[in-house]
Amino acid sequence: MVCQNHRKPPPTIVNCLLSPMLLALESSCDETAASVCTAEGDILASAVASQIEIHRQFGGVVPEVASRNHILHVQPLVETVLAQAGLKLADIAAFAATSGPGLVSSLLIGTSMAKALAVAESKPFLAVNHMEGHLLSPFMAGNGPPRRSVALIVSGGHTMLIHMTDVGEYRLLGKTRDDAAGEAFDKIAKMIGLPYPGGPEIDKLAQQGNPTAYSLPRSFLDGHSLEFSFSGLKTAVLYELPKLDLENPTVLADLCASVQAAICEVLVEKLILAARLCGEKLVTVSGGVSCNRGLRARLSSRCEKEGLTLLLARPDLSTDNAAMIAYAAARRFAQGHTSSLEADVDPNLSLVRP
Ligand code: KG4
Ligand code: ZN
Repeated sequence: MVCQNHRKPPPTIVNCLLSPMLLALESSCDETAASVCTAEGDILASAVASQIEIHRQFGGVVPEVASRNHILHVQPLVETVLAQAGLKLADIAAFAATSGPGLVSSLLIGTSMAKALAVAESKPFLAVNHMEGHLLSPFMAGNGPPRRSVALIVSGGHTMLIHMTDVGEYRLLGKTRDDAAGEAFDKIAKMIGLPYPGGPEIDKLAQQGNPTAYSLPRSFLDGHSLEFSFSGLKTAVLYELPKLDLENPTVLADLCASVQAAICEVLVEKLILAARLCGEKLVTVSGGVSCNRGLRARLSSRCEKEGLTLLLARPDLSTDNAAMIAYAAARRFAQGHTSSLEADVDPNLSLVRP
């Protein structure tokens, strides 16, 4: 288990009175996480128990293994974040957990624990959409409050563009027709022999490579489409592989840089097109892939050129974490929302109304 802890000084009494503190759990995939956060996006404590090393040997996430490990880590993580924040359970205003989308057997661990804590403390429970956590994460840690914007969410399971007018007011502008951006990074990395998860590995190798070395397809679909497709890129790399000596570090780095450039160019240009079509000047980017250095560099230069303000989720808030879940819950709680203890998990939970 790799535990990343982010500690802040304990809140003052005045802060506690002004701003309810929510404790949230995240267990939708292979990270178990807990956090205490306020609706202002102040992270009082955050800890992640990563299972990456465990799943790496299988080349991807094994659901049964993931849920067994969530069970091992969830209670110690609750104790860790309470200790980090210098709080007792009784100081928490409400308990929250990711209820979807994700792996059912994993989601059940976090939601069951949060419900149990809510019952034990006679406090409300909130079920949180994991994608809403990603969507709101760029507004945390001093960047808030959430406001009108066009969002690009790029994670291992999702790639979507959302027009947000307020918390809870989301319109889907486009999503991927096949692989998510993170999935494309991970699958291509696997094809070229890199370990799971492949996104950070490609990012690392791409630093030394030439992004124009290989001409790979950019799937813009038709010129005004806000949908994505990455399966053609995967196939193009597959056809390229027999011609390449991947033992040669220059060839490998050039291929990684070319793949990264092909994915990032499409993501950035579609985000800019979406902002133009919605008439918005603020764009946000979140989800694990937003850690990618090539994507961040291209986003800043293109947004500056287009006169757009760019808010990027902080890297530790981009990959799966519970602080973004606690923040989303706290914003909803501030609007008067709570969830029933009967609320079920939903592996396909949608962020937008159909
Ligand atoms: O948001 P996230 O932590 O989990 C999901 O909700 O899916 O995203 C994980 C994805 C993985 O596909 C991983 O390879 C990708 O984010 N990722 C990256 C980078 N860091 C994480 N992709 C490209 N470059 C990175 N630096
Ligand atoms: Zn995620």
